Amino acid sequence: MKPGRTGFRLALAAATLSAAACDHMPGRPGPGSEVSRPGDVLDFDVLYSHNCAGCHGAGGKGGAAVALNDPVYLAYAPDEAIRRATANGVPGTPMPPFADSAGGMLTGRQIDALVAGMRQRWARPGALAGEAPPPYRSDAAGDASRGDAAYRVFCASCHGPDGSGGKAHSIVDSSYLALASDQGLRTTVVVGVPSIVADGKPAAPDWRGDVPGRPMTGDEVSDVVAWLAAHRTRRPAASEAGASNPAMGVSP
Ligand code: HEC
Ligand code: HEC
Repeated sequence: MKPGRTGFRLALAAATLSAAACDHMPGRPGPGSEVSRPGDVLDFDVLYSHNCAGCHGAGGKGGAAVALNDPVYLAYAPDEAIRRATANGVPGTPMPPFADSAGGMLTGRQIDALVAGMRQRWARPGALAGEAPPPYRSDAAGDASRGDAAYRVFCASCHGPDGSGGKAHSIVDSSYLALASDQGLRTTVVVGVPSIVADGKPAAPDWRGDVPGRPMTGDEVSDVVAWLAAHRTRRPAASEAGASNPAMGVSP
């Protein structure tokens, strides 16, 4: 049968029916419209599981990217830094921007709900027992040759004499370093990898545990990060602030 008038009306009726069953008619509030606009969702669990869990792990840990469900991370990272990374992403890494103003899908209120939710659920006041972590951002650029010395003291016992692996994996691998920002490396050095536990202890300790009783200073963290960054072999992406960072793109 040729699609004549009857066919057209059937199709229209079907379309109307499916529109009636759908909460997402644009511009048309109806019953249940409180859940109809994705921008209205402010529930932390929904926002986190839809947007973040794939990389940061269900429940905030155990994913490929830094654990956000980590009281040590949350004691070290200020809200403003968590918010900025979530809104704008981290250029040159897989961390995408989420703010609608930066091309993402989340409103400012939703990003606030994520930051507040992480803190409410996953922070633990007193997690550091009064110890001050190294600052989130370093005031001064690190020094790669001092970093080489700090590497031997704090890291070589696990990552091998030159970083290419020992008890733990290589951390000078170019494919790893190419996708991690200096700030991301700093975070890993400060907080360790809390989800990996061996013999009841974190296998990748935070800044206090690499050499027990001898926490790393903020400068030592900066120096080790400069040493790691000096192993990058890629050219910085044009979008990156890396152009102003002479350590990037230089191989030793
Ligand atoms: C496609 C994978 C991916 C997704 C999805 C993702 N992230 Fe990330 N995220 C990363 C990676 C990789 C990094 C580390 C970037 C770097 O090297 O600095 C990161 C870094 C971060 C940081 C900064 C960590 C630091 O060093 O202080 C925050 C905060 C963060 N993500 C929050 C979120 C939130 C919240 C969501 C969901 C709204 C999210 N991420 C979704 C991959 C992802
Ligand atoms: C007690 C052993 C130990 C010490 C000391 C240690 N690490 Fe690690 N580190 C690990 C383990 C275990 C991992 C998890 C991945 C693996 O198995 O290699 C890890 C992971 C990392 C990663 C992330 C690698 C990735 O693929 O995600 C970086 C970066 C890193 N360490 C840097 C350092 C630096 C820099 C130091 C010294 C300041 C250091 N580590 C000291 C055991 C250690």
